[in-house]
Amino acid sequence: MAMSKSQLARQLRGHVELLAAGGVRELPVAAKSPPPCKTPPKRQPPARTKAQTTPAAGFKPVIVPSQAMAELKDFHSGVARALEPLAEQVRVCANCRLCETRTQTVFGAGDPRSPLMIVGEAPGGDEDAKGLPFVGRAGKLLTDIIEKGMKYSRDHVYIANVLKCRPPNNRNPEPEEIEACRGYLQQQIDLINPKVILAVGLFPAQWLTGQKLPIGKLRGQVFELNGRKVIATYHPAYVLRNYTVETRKKVHEDVLLAVGILGPGPLIKD
Ligand code: URA
Repeated sequence: MAMSKSQLARQLRGHVELLAAGGVRELPVAAKSPPPCKTPPKRQPPARTKAQTTPAAGFKPVIVPSQAMAELKDFHSGVARALEPLAEQVRVCANCRLCETRTQTVFGAGDPRSPLMIVGEAPGGDEDAKGLPFVGRAGKLLTDIIEKGMKYSRDHVYIANVLKCRPPNNRNPEPEEIEACRGYLQQQIDLINPKVILAVGLFPAQWLTGQKLPIGKLRGQVFELNGRKVIATYHPAYVLRNYTVETRKKVHEDVLLAVGILGPGPLIKD
């Protein structure tokens, strides 16, 4: 039977008087959370805060077949075989909230035997739709940079991104998204083992050099990363927005630093 308020107050007073008689002089302030239940409450999926980047965060990933996997199957090289399980991990990845809004993951593309790896920022709308990196307008300019500027074949270069999933509306990657994806790019670099890495844009430039400087300060020089050379330059999308002779000249100078190390093409001699 339910107790009335006055009955409850009486009972409470009696309880407090009993405690006082027993020498209790202070009572703890009531806890804000409800008292513990006998059976532990069902675990609620944790709130999706920005900081949560592990699969335990309970994100609901979009999982579809991977373009990269199909391409890797066509390469009959040991590196391609070694990349397959990594591409599979990326395909089903739920490390951050981007897994919920992607159409598909964009692992990377190109020849995994390449001595040149190009690292961009993150898939955009076209890449998210096709599952391949740099296939939109910025990608077309990147192809020109590789083929007309460096005189290499794009097919001979391996291209990947810092993030494997598209940030909604092509916003900048969040630091926790970069961290959630870090291991994938690191393993791609370790397996492909390129001689030179060209970072296109601020986020890959900072990722690869470990320096939190503006891209204008990072470009134009050669860094060392575990015995590999790293060169940073402006992102093709930035070049398209600032299509001046000056910007294009700087990109050309930067990519020629890479050509100076790699030598003239072809990059892969079959
Ligand atoms: N911009 C990038 O940084 N990467 C892509 O794959 C496409 C556009």
